Amino acid sequence: MRVVAAEHPRLYGLLDLARAHEPDTLSALLSLTNEFDSDDTGRGDSYRRAQQDSFVRWTGAHRLLTLATPADAIGDVVVLDVLGGDGTIARAVAGRADSSTAKLDIVTGDISAQMVARALAHGLPAVRQAAEALLLRDGSVDAALLAYGTHHIGPADRPRAAAEAIRVVRPGGRVVVHDFDESSPMARFFTDVVHTHSATGHDYAHFTRSEFESHFRGLPVSLEVLDVYDPLIVFGATAEEARDRMCEYIADMYGIRSYFSAQRNSAAVWDLLTEFFDHSAYLAGLAVAPECRTRPVVSEVDGGFAAEVPRLAIAAVAEKAV
Ligand SMILES: C[S@@+](CC[C@H](N)C(=O)[O-])C[C@H]1O[C@@H](n2cnc3c(N)ncnc32)[C@H](O)[C@@H]1O
Repeated sequence: MRVVAAEHPRLYGLLDLARAHEPDTLSALLSLTNEFDSDDTGRGDSYRRAQQDSFVRWTGAHRLLTLATPADAIGDVVVLDVLGGDGTIARAVAGRADSSTAKLDIVTGDISAQMVARALAHGLPAVRQAAEALLLRDGSVDAALLAYGTHHIGPADRPRAAAEAIRVVRPGGRVVVHDFDESSPMARFFTDVVHTHSATGHDYAHFTRSEFESHFRGLPVSLEVLDVYDPLIVFGATAEEARDRMCEYIADMYGIRSYFSAQRNSAAVWDLLTEFFDHSAYLAGLAVAPECRTRPVVSEVDGGFAAEVPRLAIAAVAEKAV
């Protein structure tokens, strides 16, 4: 906390330090290690290695940040990234500022001490806190984002996390919750590949649209649930390089390097991705499908090549009543 006070006074001013002593907050932080600390405790090191390129998920992250920006936003928009890891989204925003993201001021939160330490080492304002017991003051931020790992919050704790996010946003502010539909190809990939072949397994329930609605029931919000195209996009000088770099990214991100290494060659790994990330049946079942790729593809762009692996996510956008 001394580092935050000295180097990030603006974040320090958002914190309600009395909350740090409350039993709920303390018990949520009691566990000293989690899956995302290091490869010794799970897949933290390899996950962070993948996130050195913070733009791979930029298409989806940009969409989520746009959805999170309140309609009445004028100056800076302070966004709490509740499951922020080592600041992937904050780093992407800093490196990709365009007219729609230039005013975003991202505060990174995470339950993992290692993740928060790495975010601080990147020079980012970051705080160790649990989604279910935030340290921020009531109404202190314009938006809160729970994305890229919301399924790590246990189903019983999810309504509490939604209520906490609503508590810390100002009236008119927004909370965006992103995850994958239980019936989506992504959920199947997690169960059949990540859970089966990673060192830690991945025994987490994903989400349904109606579950989103139940989490926000009784809170002072208007709610919309929508589909978000959230692909992985990796570039290379040649088609093979783009494809191989994508396989490397997925191996590190999901902790499945040994499973990929057991395949015949990198073309066989790509074939596996083509099977698991085929969204054609899922898309056909959506009432309104977003514009997106259906299957993994490598295409020529700007004198190089892009490997694009489609992922369809669902997101709840909750606007706090004024
Ligand atoms: C898949 S990682 C995503 C990190 C970052 N958002 C990114 O996209 O690179 C999920 C993160 O959620 C954090 N996390 C899991 N459960 C949490 C909780 N209850 N409260 C806060 N953070 C949590 C983990 O420590 C981990 O860093």
